[in-house]
Amino acid sequence: MRLLVASIAASALFTYSSAAAQAFNPEILRVWDDRAVEAFELPLAQSDRSPRYPSSQEYYALKPRVIYRSYPVYTPGREPAGYGEWLRQREPEIIFDASKLRTEKDWIQAGRIVFQSHIAFIPAPRVPELDPSLPILPDGTLPPFRPGNRYYIRQKGLIEVGLNACADCHTRIMPDGSFLEGAQGIVARPFSASVMKQVRESTPESFARRRENDWILFGAPWIQSKETFVGAMTPDQVVAQLAANHPGVFARQGTSRSHPVHVPSLIGVKDRRYLDATGLVRHRSIGDLMRYAVINMGLDTSARFGDFQPSSNPTPFGGEVGTRYSEEQLYAMAFYMYSLKPPVNPNLRDALASNGQKVFGQQGCGVCHTPPLYTNNKLTPAIGFKVPDHMRKTDNILSICIGTDPALAMSTRRGTGFYKVPSLLGVWHRNAFGHEGQAETLEEWLDAARLQGDYVPKGFHIGPGAIKGHEFGLKLSPADKRALIAFLKSL
Ligand code: HEC
Ligand code: HEC
Repeated sequence: MRLLVASIAASALFTYSSAAAQAFNPEILRVWDDRAVEAFELPLAQSDRSPRYPSSQEYYALKPRVIYRSYPVYTPGREPAGYGEWLRQREPEIIFDASKLRTEKDWIQAGRIVFQSHIAFIPAPRVPELDPSLPILPDGTLPPFRPGNRYYIRQKGLIEVGLNACADCHTRIMPDGSFLEGAQGIVARPFSASVMKQVRESTPESFARRRENDWILFGAPWIQSKETFVGAMTPDQVVAQLAANHPGVFARQGTSRSHPVHVPSLIGVKDRRYLDATGLVRHRSIGDLMRYAVINMGLDTSARFGDFQPSSNPTPFGGEVGTRYSEEQLYAMAFYMYSLKPPVNPNLRDALASNGQKVFGQQGCGVCHTPPLYTNNKLTPAIGFKVPDHMRKTDNILSICIGTDPALAMSTRRGTGFYKVPSLLGVWHRNAFGHEGQAETLEEWLDAARLQGDYVPKGFHIGPGAIKGHEFGLKLSPADKRALIAFLKSL
C-alpha cells in the first residue's frame, strides 16, 4: 500500500514537473514603472544628487531593440575563401522572438542570446583590430565576447561589427581557452595601444573633446567642477590612467578613471540583495535586475543628478540611439543570469582547506561572509559616511566601517556611502580583489605589506600606495594563511 501511495505521488510529481518543463509563461511586470523606479536604488551619499530617471512615458517612447544573428570575425588570412562575399549575401535574420518561447529552457537560451548580442554598431573595418592580450581560437576566429569581434547583418549587403554586449565584460576566458559565462571578465580592449597613441597625439581641440566625453561618463559637479575636470588633466596623465588598466577592472560610467571598479562575477547573483560594489541597486525581485540592465546600458547617463544631466541622449554610449531592450528581452536576460551555474571547482576541500575553514571561523570572517552564500548581504559604511537614520529601517546595514578607500563610495555618481559585503563563492576563478581590484590575488589581499604607504599593488593602481582597510586575517601565521587561502579557493 505504501509503495502504491509513493508511486502515485511520484507520478504526480512527474506530471507536474514535465508540465512545468513544457509550458512556461512568465508574467512580466512593466519594468519601467515610475513607482518601482523610485525605490530600486539607494540614495547617493549626497542625497540631493540621487539620480532621477526618465519617466515611464519617456522610456517607453524608445524603440525596442531587434536582435540579429551575428557571425564570427576571423584573424586576417584565416577566414574561409569568399567569406566577405558570403556575408554580403546574408539576409538579416532576427534571432529573438518571444512568441516562440515555450519552456524555461527556451527563455534561458533566449536570454543568453540577448546577453551576448551587441547593441551598438559601426561599419566593419577592412582589417579587424587584434587585441594582443587575447588568444585566437583554434578555428582562426577571434573570441566572440569582445567589442568588434562579431559581424552583424542588419541590412543585406552591409557588414557591421557590434560594440557593447553584456557578455563582453561578463565572460571570463580561462587559461585553457574555454569561456566561463557570467564570470568576471577581463575587459582590456578599450585601453589598447592605439587608444593611448591617439591621446598622446591629440590636438588641444581633440583632447578637450575627449575630456568632454569623459565628463559625460564620470562627471559629478558636486565633487569636482567641469572646468577643473576638463582642464586639469594633461594628455600624459590621461595616458597614465589608461595604462593603469587592469584585467577585471573597468571604469564603468559613474565611477572614475582613478577609482574604477572590479567586474563582479554574475554567477550566484540571484542570491545577492544589493548590486554593485557600493550596493547602489536594491535587488528585491527579478524586476530590479531587469531595471539594472536598463540603466547600465546607457539610461544612467541621461538621469538628472540634481541640476546635472550628463547627457540628454537616453543611450549615449549604451546602444543605438533611441533604443531600449524589450520587456521580454530584459526578462529573458535576467532569467538567464539567475540560471548561471558555478563551474566545477578544481580545488579540493582537502586537509589543508579544512584547517583553513577552522581559521575562517576563528577569525570571525563568517560574521560578514556568512555561509552558505559567504556574504550576509549587508552594507558597510565607507570612511566618513554618516548613515541616515531612516536607512537603518529600510536597509541591511552593519555599523562597522572596514576602512577601505572611500573614494568610490563617497566621490562618484555610484557613491552611496556604502560598500557591500561581497560573496566569496567562486573567488578561485577571480582576480582583482577589493572594490577597485587593487589586489591581484588572495595572497596579496591577506598580506599585511599592502597597508604600507609605499606599497605597489599588483592589481589596479596608478602609482604606489596602500591598499587600505579590511585588516582581517593580516596577522595570521604563514601556515594559517596558506590554509585559509586553500579554504577560500575551495568555495
Ligand atoms: C563595459 C563593461 C560592462 C558591460 C558591457 C556590462 N557590464 Fe555589468 N558590470 C560591469 C562592471 C564594471 C560592474 C561593477 C559595477 C559596480 O560595482 O559599480 C558590473 C556590474 C554588474 C552587475 C552587478 C552584479 C553584482 O553582484 O554587483 C550586474 C547584474 C551586471 N553588471 C549585469 C550586466 C548586464 C545585464 C549587462 C548588459 C545589459 C552588463 N552588465 C553590461 C561591467 C560591464
Ligand atoms: C566586518 C565585516 C567583514 C569581516 C569580518 C570580513 N570581511 Fe571580507 N569583506 C568585507 C567587505 C565589506 C568587503 C568589500 C571590501 C571592498 O569593497 O573593498 C570584503 C572583501 C573581502 C574579500 C575580497 C572579495 C572581492 O571579491 O573583492 C575577501 C577575499 C575577503 N573579504 C575575505 C575575508 C576573510 C578571509 C575574512 C576573515 C579573515 C574577512 N573577509 C572578514 C567585510 C568583511
